[in-house]
Order: sequence, then structure tokens, then C-alpha cells
Amino acid sequence: MTTRTLNLDDALYQYMLDVSLRDSPLKARLRAETALLPTARWQVAAEQGQFLALLVKLIGARRILEIGTFTGYSALCMAEALPVDGSILCCDLPGDYNATARSYWREAGVESRIELRLGPALETLAELDKPGSFDLVFIDADKANYPTYLEHALRLLRVGGLAVFDNVLWSGRVLEANPESEDTRAIQRLNRALKVDERVDYSLLPLGDGMSLCRKR
Ligand SMILES: C[S@@+](CC[C@H](N)C(=O)[O-])C[C@H]1O[C@@H](n2cnc3c(N)ncnc32)[C@H](O)[C@@H]1O
Repeated sequence: MTTRTLNLDDALYQYMLDVSLRDSPLKARLRAETALLPTARWQVAAEQGQFLALLVKLIGARRILEIGTFTGYSALCMAEALPVDGSILCCDLPGDYNATARSYWREAGVESRIELRLGPALETLAELDKPGSFDLVFIDADKANYPTYLEHALRLLRVGGLAVFDNVLWSGRVLEANPESEDTRAIQRLNRALKVDERVDYSLLPLGDGMSLCRKR
């Protein structure tokens, strides 16, 4: 057997968090409040939030686009990592969770860096007409549109900018041979296409539910 990524059992996963998660009471509170919602599993894992923040700093991102914001956790993590003149444009649908996101951003003092545009993301993206104007695009909304979101991300990213897709392992459903779900089929299509897409440098990380990193060439 060749060297491969570890399976994390509960004890090892907890160890990983214990030795690496840099939490704050505010972020822990947002996770706890979101955990009470029926859609709690939509939120990125805490270690993914920390990883996104690291990516923001690694590539010196100033301008971020997020597609899929929910109660605002990933946006909060990235906003805290931005320089003071940095900004995030968040796309989501209208919902009760918009107010939750805004209240935590306000409390964290990053509200002025974040614009939340409500409506189908494809409509918001169609209005963005400056190619190359973003450093990082985080994609975490409706999976059926992932392949289309990739095209928008590549149009809107600068060369060297990063598109990050969440849920690319889809709790293992990517293994289904003939999936009924269009979401599953779209993620499978995206994963297969990215492997051979010459427009990007690429890596799929088994972090959270699977995260793909695509650096625009
Ligand atoms: C997985 S959640 C995002 C989680 C978020 N990144 C976080 O860390 O908490 C997906 C979000 O995408 C939004 N969404 C789904 N379809 C959408 C669409 N067509 N346009 C915009 N937002 C959409 C949902 O309302 C939901 O809030």
C-alpha cells in the first residue's frame, strides 16, 4: 500500500483540533448558535474556517468573493484575515440567517469589509463585469451550479488568484455510480474536469467535506 491520507477517528480528530484550532469566543458562539438550526451542517468546519483565513494571508488577498454565506462563519474567518482595506462580496439568498451573519460581523468589527448581496448567485455574478478583480473566490452554495461557478471564478480571478470549492467529497456520495441527485452529478463533473483543466494548478484536500484549491494560471 502506498502512503495515503490518514483516516481520522474521533480521538485523532479531537487531537487535531486540540493542538491546532485557534478559536475565539465569538466564533465559538456563532458555531453554537448555528448548531441549533436544522441546516447546521451547512456551516464549514472550524478547521476549514481557520484554513481559509490562512489562505487569505498566504496569497495576500484583498478582494474576496464568497458564493454561499449562510450564518456568515466562513466570511467572518476570511474577513478577520484581510487587511483593513480588504473586502468581501458575499452572495446568498434571502433568509433568516442573513441577520445572524450581519450581527456577528458587526460584533467582530468587520462589518464594513463585507457586502452581502441577496439573490440567486448567478444573477449577482452576471452583474460583476470586471475580469481579474478578485484574489480569492470561495464557492459553497448550490452544488448543481458548481461547474458554472468555476467559469465565473476563472473570469473574475486575477492570475495567481485562488478558487476554493467546499464539499467536493460530498460525504462520500461522489462514489455513487449513477446518482439521482443533480448536486452529486455536478460535483462529480467538476472533480473530473478539474483534474485535467489546464487553466489551473490544482489540489483536492480531504479537509472537512473535501476542499479543492484551484490557482488560476
Ligand atoms: C453550505 S451554505 C454556506 C455555508 C457558509 N459558507 C458557512 O461557512 O457558514 C450554502 C448557502 O448557499 C446559499 N445558496 C444556495 N443556493 C444559492 C443560490 N442559487 N444563490 C445564492 N446563494 C445560494 C444558501 O442559502 C446557503 O446559505
